[in-house]
Amino acid sequence: MKIAVIQGPNLNMLGVREQHIYGPMTLDQIHEQMKASAEQNQVELEFFQSNLEGEIVDRIQECLGTVDGILINPAAFSHTSIAIKDAISAVNLPTVEVHISNIYKREEYRQKSITAGASTGVITGFGPFGYHLGLISLTQIIAEVKAVEAQKQAAQQA
Ligand code: DQA
Repeated sequence: MKIAVIQGPNLNMLGVREQHIYGPMTLDQIHEQMKASAEQNQVELEFFQSNLEGEIVDRIQECLGTVDGILINPAAFSHTSIAIKDAISAVNLPTVEVHISNIYKREEYRQKSITAGASTGVITGFGPFGYHLGLISLTQIIAEVKAVEAQKQAAQQA
């Protein structure tokens, strides 16, 4: 099973930016922890971070036919980007959106996620642990999708 991990703008600044909100862990440290738990479950992760909306759209499009699901923190683009939402809808893969902070507890402009409307589910407010929760949920969802597909194939061949 292969999962694309897509990180939006300013998440490369984790560990430096607003530590009272996002904590002290760097993005590399978060990714190392994710890798360790993914390996235990035979899950392969592909990491990507960009500060540019179009690059994130391109990366999501590349997911079609190459990975089984997407774990994404679109960061500030969550609140603004119809283009990223459309890309998630277009590839139609199981997708979990993660936010480190609880966006519902923050400024009003952060309380709506446009991109979440295209995602399978959202995890928000659990700190970096949210990525771990996202990975567990996404792995489960993908396993269920694969099981349904296998059942359909078996029924067609019968
Ligand atoms: C964030 C929340 C966003 O509002 C913010 O712009 C981010 C990070 C989070 O992970 O809590 O950059 O997505």
